[in-house]
Amino acid sequence: MKDPALETLLLPLQNEAVAMPTSGAVFLRARMGSPMRSLDAANLLCQQSFAPDKDALEVAGFSVSEELPQSAPLVLVLPPRQRGEARALLAKAVALAKPVSGVVVAAVTNTEGAKTAEGDLAKLLPLAGKLSKNKSRVFWGQAQEVDEALLAQWVGLDAPRDILDGRFRSRPGLFAWDHIDPASQLLVNTLPTNLSGVGADLGAGFGVLAAEVLRKCPKVKMLDLYEAEKRALDLARDNIEAMQSEALREYYWQDVTKGLRKPYDFIVSNPPFHTGKADRADLGQGFIRAAARGLRVGGHLWMVANRHLPYEDTLDKTFGSYKILADEGGYKVIHAIKAGR
Ligand SMILES: C[S@@+](CC[C@H](N)C(=O)[O-])C[C@H]1O[C@@H](n2cnc3c(N)ncnc32)[C@H](O)[C@@H]1O
Repeated sequence: MKDPALETLLLPLQNEAVAMPTSGAVFLRARMGSPMRSLDAANLLCQQSFAPDKDALEVAGFSVSEELPQSAPLVLVLPPRQRGEARALLAKAVALAKPVSGVVVAAVTNTEGAKTAEGDLAKLLPLAGKLSKNKSRVFWGQAQEVDEALLAQWVGLDAPRDILDGRFRSRPGLFAWDHIDPASQLLVNTLPTNLSGVGADLGAGFGVLAAEVLRKCPKVKMLDLYEAEKRALDLARDNIEAMQSEALREYYWQDVTKGLRKPYDFIVSNPPFHTGKADRADLGQGFIRAAARGLRVGGHLWMVANRHLPYEDTLDKTFGSYKILADEGGYKVIHAIKAGR
């Protein structure tokens, strides 16, 4: 699949407008894609908290770590769409670039706010160059004449904080980060209170669904939270541990489509359905297949989805039959039971 922001990000290195240092370059929110093959994996440290992207980088031979050096001669960065999170990441990139000589290079697609992000980097340091291609922009500058006061302010823009009167801790950039998603709420309202045994929440986010399962269903003995985004899973752990539930809890930072850790009596999920602006039905379909493989025979799947997403065929193929238990506000709640052979 094409990644226009990544392709555009590497243009100034390919045309030598920006020099690749012989060692110590860092790539924040790195993603794998064919343009990465032009880089020397030994000379680049990648940071990536989203497990599928981290896995793809590691398979290709890149080192991925959340532990970064004090400073770097070159910082590549792919800012996300959420403004506070993007500003915080740009500020972190500038803080990481070696004072004066270090270069920050950022790229964003036009639909994800290229112009805004370019303006934001320009507020932190003077831009030295920019290019437009692939319906995206790449822009860069050296870490000199940095607005240190603004940098200090922006670094904390995506910091964890209390939301919903202290019921949860969350942070900008996570799915529905400052509210309960209406689809998740519909699933919570529809879930029976007699869920029991060992269960899992696939794509747990900062723990909204899991918290409600533990609150509503006293017969649950164990609940495993699976989440690909480490920044979300860390907060889910904080939120669930603060509940003092008697059920055992485990937290797995992983791509659920790679397989679940144990057989489950029930699974709840509000699966991901887009990357950037584009709907991606294949993501939810992958979650349905993972749930079907992960449930024991007779185990229950409870999931919610945008009504228009085509999951019926996958449900037919994996579970044989299913029921729509609620259909409201553009969302559908699906219940399926794993059949024996
Ligand atoms: C629609 S959100 C639901 C979040 C939360 N359960 C809620 O109800 O608010 C889907 C979640 O799945 C996570 N996710 C996306 N792809 C994933 C994958 N391959 N494996 C595990 N989690 C994934 C996303 O990071 C996101 O937190």
